[in-house]
Amino acid sequence: MLAEHKLKAFQELVTQSSREELIWMNGFLAGLVSAENGVGAAGAGVTAVAQPAAPKVNKISILFGTETGNSKKVATEFAAQAKKQGVNVKLTSLDQYRVNDLAKEEYTFLVISTQGDGEPPATAKKFYDHIHQQNIALDKMKFSVLALGDTSYPLFCKAGEDVDTQLAKLGAKRVAPLQKCDTDYATDAAAWFANVMKVLSDQGGNTVTTSSAVAKPKGKKNYTGTIITNLNLNDRGSGKQTHHIEIGVEDEVHYEPGDSIGLIPHNKKETVDTIIALTGADADTVIEFRKERYTIAEALTRKINIIHLPERVVKQYASVIQQEIPDTRIDLLDLLRIYPVKDAGQFEQVLQVMEPIAPRLYSISSSPEAHSGEVHITVARDKFIINGEEKYGFCSDFLTHLDVDSNIDFYVHKNNQFKLPAADKDVIMIGPGTGIAPFRSFIAQRDAVGASGRNWLFFGDQKFTTDFLYQTEIQNWVDTSVLTRVNLAFSRDQKSKIYVQHKMLEQADELWQWIDNGAYIYICGAKAPMSTDVENTLLQIIERYSGKSIGEAIAYFDKMKEEGRYLLDVY
Ligand SMILES: Cc1cc2nc3c(=O)[nH]c(=O)nc-3n(C[C@H](O)[C@H](O)[C@H](O)COP(=O)(O)OP(=O)(O)OC[C@H]3O[C@@H](n4cnc5c(N)ncnc54)[C@H](O)[C@@H]3O)c2cc1C
Ligand SMILES: Cc1cc2nc3c(=O)[nH]c(=O)nc-3n(C[C@H](O)[C@H](O)[C@H](O)COP(=O)(O)O)c2cc1C
Repeated sequence: MLAEHKLKAFQELVTQSSREELIWMNGFLAGLVSAENGVGAAGAGVTAVAQPAAPKVNKISILFGTETGNSKKVATEFAAQAKKQGVNVKLTSLDQYRVNDLAKEEYTFLVISTQGDGEPPATAKKFYDHIHQQNIALDKMKFSVLALGDTSYPLFCKAGEDVDTQLAKLGAKRVAPLQKCDTDYATDAAAWFANVMKVLSDQGGNTVTTSSAVAKPKGKKNYTGTIITNLNLNDRGSGKQTHHIEIGVEDEVHYEPGDSIGLIPHNKKETVDTIIALTGADADTVIEFRKERYTIAEALTRKINIIHLPERVVKQYASVIQQEIPDTRIDLLDLLRIYPVKDAGQFEQVLQVMEPIAPRLYSISSSPEAHSGEVHITVARDKFIINGEEKYGFCSDFLTHLDVDSNIDFYVHKNNQFKLPAADKDVIMIGPGTGIAPFRSFIAQRDAVGASGRNWLFFGDQKFTTDFLYQTEIQNWVDTSVLTRVNLAFSRDQKSKIYVQHKMLEQADELWQWIDNGAYIYICGAKAPMSTDVENTLLQIIERYSGKSIGEAIAYFDKMKEEGRYLLDVY
């Protein structure tokens, strides 16, 4: 039906597009066709929807609270769609929002994600606290909330739910139901926005009555992969264990450098067996957990969190077995030993109050262009001491023990902010420890596509001889000039500790030249203290070498952040 050159261009576009982009194109084309049929034009957006009649409400606010850019992306695209429909839109990030304006707001639509253990993103904290702590009358406000989250977490879309409930409590009128979205949010977000546009077209904003309950999320794309390689990158004698894990996947995995994968670790078989023996439960009895059916053994292995239970779960346990238990975090096995259940029946009740295992995220260290059919991650085995006993982090311990050829399920967690710039731009990557992971992806990708921009890497760890992660690859990239510059900081190779920020100071003059020339700066790895120290050092360099006052240097730095030239992925 298409001429050959058009078909070729179409096929190229389809094969190079992510699933989200395909969904968008699908909606866009559907909208375009229906527009031609006189139904209404489709605008640009997450998924373009056939629009209802021209809006009667012509002024709205769209506020977003984001950590990794998804909510910002959705909010920005919806703002553009609404503007195309003739609506005057005020689009604001919640960290820039003047909370004193809230009482004056009329049509207000919020897009907000959930972070941590059911918390609002850092950028929305001020707003979240304000609406929960101040008794403001919001009787003018007509609102709806789009909540971004991940169904794998125990407290799915909690921040969005809280904001939705609290605005209603303060007197605001909910004009379209709360929409909760899983990580593949495009379709649900578009449905929510279609509701919002319907409200704006209906008689100056009647409530959408077609769906009164909270709309159910559609889910996410899960992949099953096979472990190809699981290799400790640290040499003998190192105090650390950092594994390079390669996962082979038959399905094409849609990701970009800067994205992570989400994984659910499995509980240890011996712990599950002990719990089953202790409670007298039948391992093969089928139970329902979070609306899915599993045998007790399966649920305890793959679904239910039995480690370091939050206090809220311990409270629920106490109420099932009707005993007083002090507020504490404890493993299920210890709880069962100290406060045993009456019988297997009571244990099944306990299982109903347990929470799912929360996913852990790992930055993808492979590149879609350079490592097709594979996804790589770089995992530090987390080690900590409790009461003098050495313990290991649940997921990192699980991953570092995975055998080659074993299977693993995962999904892609998109980071819409931590993305490579145009091929001709320079990048400065600061990633000590596992912070190297996304930069291995960045560099391999830029190498594979022949990007002309320069690449500068700052890497650091404890000791050169044992902890220089990906040493051979980095050396090769230097030899082939893919890496223009590399600076290394090994903290324990000399008496005084040397970190990446010290290496940055040594290179301050050249760093300033790159920054002033438009380079993009990326930081990945430990949030504290690394990312704070690096940020302070950058500010110091800008001030010292640009000849700016501290005030001007801060303004310059803020502008870099606004332009997306200073990007963090820290944890
Ligand atoms: C966007 C993002 C990207 C990331 N990328 C990477 C990456 O590339 N590589 C990487 O290695 N990590 C990465 N992480 C971190 C990773 O997701 C995990 O947080 C990390 O591996 C620790 O998880 P765990 O299950 O091993 O440890 P957990 O079991 O979750 O333990 C974490 C901490 O909780 C405390 N704790 C746990 N159990 C107990 C207990 N019984 N008693 C007392 N305290 C306890 C300890 O302080 C411990 O260190 C990333 C995180 C994010 C958010
Ligand atoms: C560290 C971390 C913790 C998270 N915690 C939750 C959670 O408790 N509940 C939830 O529904 N989603 C949780 N999420 C998922 C995010 O809300 C989801 O990925 C969302 O698309 C992020 O949107 P944003 O880019 O706008 O921040 C978490 C994500 C991360 C990275």
